[in-house]
Amino acid sequence: MGACGKLEHSLLHLLLSLGLPSNTAQPITTSTLATHRNITETCFQGSLAVPMAPKPRPSELPPAPKPVVHLAQSIVISEQASLTGNFPIRVGQHTVIHPRAKLNSLAGPITIGDFCIVSERALIAAPDQDGLEIESYVVIETNAVVEARRVGEGTTVEVGVKIGKGAVVGSNCKITPLNKIEESEIVDDSTVIYGVGQRRIDISGSRDARRKLTEKQVEALKQLIPSNRTKFMS
Ligand SMILES: *[C@@H]1O[C@H](CO)[C@@H](O)[C@H](O)[C@H]1NC(C)=O
Ligand SMILES: *[C@@H]1O[C@H](CO)[C@@H](O)[C@H](O)[C@H]1NC(C)=O
Repeated sequence: MGACGKLEHSLLHLLLSLGLPSNTAQPITTSTLATHRNITETCFQGSLAVPMAPKPRPSELPPAPKPVVHLAQSIVISEQASLTGNFPIRVGQHTVIHPRAKLNSLAGPITIGDFCIVSERALIAAPDQDGLEIESYVVIETNAVVEARRVGEGTTVEVGVKIGKGAVVGSNCKITPLNKIEESEIVDDSTVIYGVGQRRIDISGSRDARRKLTEKQVEALKQLIPSNRTKFMS
């Protein structure tokens, strides 16, 4: 007995075991069996014959929209960074954009200040048409996701941190790895978020010393990361 025959056989048993009342059930005749066979065979073959929906090849996908970009002459931007969106993206002087960092202006414009560092696989996306502003001396580490309205000067966003849509983060804050800031949240200047969401204000430490340190990091990165600004200007 073939696969279809077995299927038919078991369906028949099922019908019989349900004990359908004779006034509603069709009498089982050779012709209903034949119809049944035809249907099961068609279904069976059909299900085998339906081809898998073909996956669109990358070349068939619509290209990501290219934003208008304003990139300062002195920036370092890896060829492997990605800038997509419909709204303008501005990047200030001496800012470093690592390979595989993503800047997405689909929802609104993005402005990044001077001496910022945007690390590998960090994602920076404007929350809405009012845009996202990252002030100067901001360091955004690997895998961070920033959808804030604003990130204040001198703030460090460490590995894997998520800043929700429209949040406002003050100046000189430090958000330690994997912490999360909720949508529309406001974080005061000089806040340190550590551990699992614990917070304190830390106004110790010199702002100038921190700036100098960031400038040194930027200088070092300029030697390390091959830059291709022209790729994004066309
Ligand atoms: C079943 O299919 C065959 C050929 O595919 C056809 O000749 C026959 O009439 C069909 N039988 C019924 C009951 O539909
Ligand atoms: C920069 O990118 C452009 C466009 O992709 C390319 O033609 C050019 O060769 C690249 N320049 C360098 C120095 O890699």
